[in-house]
Amino acid sequence: MPDANPIAPPFYIGDLLVDPPVLQAPMAGFTNYAFRQIVREFGGAGLLATEMVNAKGFVWLDEQEATHPDRLWGVADEPRPLAVQIWDNDPEIMARVGKRLVDEYKVSVVDINFGCPVRQVTEKAHSGSYLLREPERMGRIIEQVVAACGPTPVTAKTRLGCTRDKIVIKDVAQIVEGAGAAALTLHGRTAADMFRGSADWDLISEVKPFLKKIPLIGNGDLDSAEKVVQAFQRYDVDGVMIARACLNKPWLFAQAQAALRGEPIPPDPTLEDERRLMVHHFELVKERFGEEKGAVLMRKYACCYAQGRRGAREFRKHVATIETADQFYAVVRDYFPSEQHAAAG
Ligand SMILES: Cc1cc2nc3c(=O)[nH]c(=O)nc-3n(C[C@H](O)[C@H](O)[C@H](O)COP(=O)(O)O)c2cc1C
Repeated sequence: MPDANPIAPPFYIGDLLVDPPVLQAPMAGFTNYAFRQIVREFGGAGLLATEMVNAKGFVWLDEQEATHPDRLWGVADEPRPLAVQIWDNDPEIMARVGKRLVDEYKVSVVDINFGCPVRQVTEKAHSGSYLLREPERMGRIIEQVVAACGPTPVTAKTRLGCTRDKIVIKDVAQIVEGAGAAALTLHGRTAADMFRGSADWDLISEVKPFLKKIPLIGNGDLDSAEKVVQAFQRYDVDGVMIARACLNKPWLFAQAQAALRGEPIPPDPTLEDERRLMVHHFELVKERFGEEKGAVLMRKYACCYAQGRRGAREFRKHVATIETADQFYAVVRDYFPSEQHAAAG
């Protein structure tokens, strides 16, 4: 039988088969229920992820208001596989929340954020990428979350280090594996880089020999099916994760899946299809957030869809002011770029 995945075979995170080995990244403010639904409809992502959820916030809301974080909306009922990402720095609280996610939400994977470079998370909460300065605390967090989550795999997502002159990832990778994590996702930048420069895939690849049992998922700057294929061909990774590019092209996973199988890459949707997609996306956002909040949120998704197209600037100007579904549909009809183009208008 010919190998269905000649370029990159599926891989396991614990007992979970990730097929194809291309993951949708967690993105705060974006990868909510509605967006995940869109990704699932196009297909091709082996594992989807929520936005990051704050563990202390979870406990506080539960105790004070008997509710759960907004970001968990839809999680209990939507299709699997699905990873929920949590962040904080207290091992015991992280473990409590991990257990709740496993017991009550039956999530496929609990992912821990050790990569967020935003000040509110690092300087104010000593969490996210700040923990790259305290690898032994990272280890304790992972150990306790793993112990609390039973057979459900716990994964870690991080960066190369805090700064370019302090790349700690090779030591950190061993700590992550030693503490019982089931996979390591590595964004090939430091926290100080934020999103500047390019992701260093050579360094990502160099981490692989330091992991004896668990898979390595590379992340950073993959924005086409061709780049996904190249990442597997050139670098030593088991899987890859896509973030920003899928906001612009949620169909990218399906294209990558075809390319990895050696099949022709399906073309981008037509502009007409994209118009329909945006209307459908608004309907999903409305279902989740209501019309008013949904309209505000949809402004940024619409800008992502228009990115890189002639006329995008004009479209952005008009979409930035919409407040209702009807206004949104009218702007899409009248201003969504009518010609596909490489450069932004
Ligand atoms: C708007 C935005 C929100 C993000 N939120 C998260 C998050 O909640 N958790 C996380 O681990 N990474 C988050 N990231 C980082 C991405 O998951 C990813 O590591 C990074 O964007 C690099 O991948 P890319 O080059 O494919 O975008 C976020 C990135 C963006 C652009």
